[in-house]
Amino acid sequence: MIPDKEYWKYRYQNKQTGWDIGYASPPIINYFDQLTDRDLKILIPGCGNAYEAEYLFNQGFKNIYILDLVEDVLQNFKRRLPEFPSEKLICDDFFSYQNKFDLIIEQTFFCALPPERRRDYINKVSNLLSKKGKLVGLLFNKEFEHDGPPFGGSKEEYELLFSQSFMIKTLENCYNSIEPRMGNELFFIFENPL
Ligand SMILES: C[S@@+](CC[C@H](N)C(=O)[O-])C[C@H]1O[C@@H](n2cnc3c(N)ncnc32)[C@H](O)[C@@H]1O
Repeated sequence: MIPDKEYWKYRYQNKQTGWDIGYASPPIINYFDQLTDRDLKILIPGCGNAYEAEYLFNQGFKNIYILDLVEDVLQNFKRRLPEFPSEKLICDDFFSYQNKFDLIIEQTFFCALPPERRRDYINKVSNLLSKKGKLVGLLFNKEFEHDGPPFGGSKEEYELLFSQSFMIKTLENCYNSIEPRMGNELFFIFENPL
């Protein structure tokens, strides 16, 4: 089964959204709190309910784009945050979307993609990032027993994969994961050299 737009729409409509923690992810917030440049152009792909974007927006970051295949989640977001600019709510396939960003945030989007698309994800992120732009976020450091999504992986695997296109600035066990994910997540910062 390939998780396509209908699959994700069904999961949201039937409230089968175990990935949705209901608030902005603490390790990512911790990273945001260290950013000083509020003009950074930021993309959150596969954003779902996009709590991280809401946090950023409320902190004064105004150049944030959120992207998802499912229109409903973007509409929910707009209802929660009506002042968020509509042109920055992107309903599209990540792999077709064209733009350039300083920062891309990863939060349970990579693990939602079938492993055979991982190379495509890396190529696409490279294309979407400006020179020295960063991909920052969380990756699962575990294999799941059932067939995905989510699809897991290991630090060694990610190192091998991402180092072909990015400078690995940080890739470490995440010390401030939410309790159910504690010990099973890596926090990372990858920089686009091009
Ligand atoms: C596991 S959910 C994670 C949502 C959100 N990041 C979170 O942590 O709550 C994966 C999300 O990616 C979206 N998605 C899957 N494939 C996509 C694609 N090719 N382009 C854009 N969004 C996609 C799904 O609709 C879903 O909202």
